[in-house]
Amino acid sequence: MTLRRMATAGVLAAVVAATLGAVSASAGGPRPPATQDQSLRGLAARNGLYFGTAVDAAAYAGASDPQYTSMVDSQFSTVTPENVMKWESLEPTRGTYDWTAADTFVENAARNHQLVRGHVLTWYSQLPGWLTTGIQDGSIDGPQLRALLHKHITDVVAHFRGKIWQWDVVNEAVSDPWETPPAIHLGGNTGSLKQKFADLLGPGYVADAFRWARAADPKALLFYNDYNIEAFGDGGPGDKTQFVYDLVKRLRAQGVPIDGVGSQGHLSTQYGNYDVLAVADALRRFTDLGVAVALTEVDARSLTKDAADPAKDAAGADLNARDQASAYNYHVLLQACLLNAHCLSFTVWGFTDKYSWIPNWFKNPPEGSGCLWDAAYHPKKSLRTVQGDLAAAGPPLVQPRVPQKPRR
Ligand code: G3I
Repeated sequence: MTLRRMATAGVLAAVVAATLGAVSASAGGPRPPATQDQSLRGLAARNGLYFGTAVDAAAYAGASDPQYTSMVDSQFSTVTPENVMKWESLEPTRGTYDWTAADTFVENAARNHQLVRGHVLTWYSQLPGWLTTGIQDGSIDGPQLRALLHKHITDVVAHFRGKIWQWDVVNEAVSDPWETPPAIHLGGNTGSLKQKFADLLGPGYVADAFRWARAADPKALLFYNDYNIEAFGDGGPGDKTQFVYDLVKRLRAQGVPIDGVGSQGHLSTQYGNYDVLAVADALRRFTDLGVAVALTEVDARSLTKDAADPAKDAAGADLNARDQASAYNYHVLLQACLLNAHCLSFTVWGFTDKYSWIPNWFKNPPEGSGCLWDAAYHPKKSLRTVQGDLAAAGPPLVQPRVPQKPRR
């Protein structure tokens, strides 16, 4: 980065921080002591980092669990709606928007001085029933789907104009190496909804989605968001991170207004997973393209049954080892983010096991326990590790955050 670009970026960072209110990193010198009772948002702010969570709107609104609501309000400086900004929530009936839950979410965030990650504009999943059916049965063709997506992005981004910090403009558009065909491609398994969605829209839809979003809100940061892109593999046809890197590189070269890459960070302790410098290397390669990065959906789940007897719940030594492995995964992702000044935010996909999506999704074999607090809001090793990492970070190795210059 040239000195001039650094200066511009620094000014921009100050402007963004002042406008959006909240996080500013201490410039150096002695810091106040960090303690375990400080909030994640406070500890992260020491490095100018925004610390976020996905919010379950029903749990937040429910009077039965005030602790959930007060922790969302006090622990986090950025929030992501877990479901209420998805297409199925906003336009359940074709042509009729229901903004109620999403508007309430945005108002709550403003009251708590939290920045909003808008999630999600373009995704084959959690589409309204009328749209999924139309794609599946062929009654909605390619040009019609393209027009519907254009309208959806324009209407939604315009509705929230000026209130969204980062938009997940395109989410999980890319296949996984275990799908068919195995070479990574836009879409998913042959014949799947994910593949049909991509085929109907055609290869140019990713670029168009970003252009449409930029036209509707020139200031929001526009992100591509995906999972299993935490580190590069062998660079071959099955390397999803490489595929997404090439896609972003191409989009930037074409002048498409993409400002960031969100690495979701859904990890499981049953796998080998990553090391700090491998993840840091991936983030650096993305930010070298001129985009910002963010960890957008972090959790680190574990198998929940006894290692020797799968009929029994895990206990004792098993649980202890899994808790520590989960904490290590949080540590790896957070350290890598801290080491890159263009890593703007670190968001967990729920903070308590009480409402986590994990047990509903991973049932065979069952997995759970992926969050920072357990289902009774007791702090876990993962929380203590994250707090320690945030407290120990600072210059010269960890610098205040610097947004990249958005392409407008
Ligand atoms: O809306 C219905 C509700 O009417 C019904 O009463 C209830 C009963 O189960 O189900 C509700 O729908 C659920 C929906 O969440 C809203 O709560 C779906 O069953 C459930 O499958 C859906 O799960 C969400 C999942 O995305 C769907 O793909 C999770 O909550 C949400 O955490 C998860 O989030 C995704 C990100 O958006 C993208 N990245 C991966 C991440 C985890 O899968």
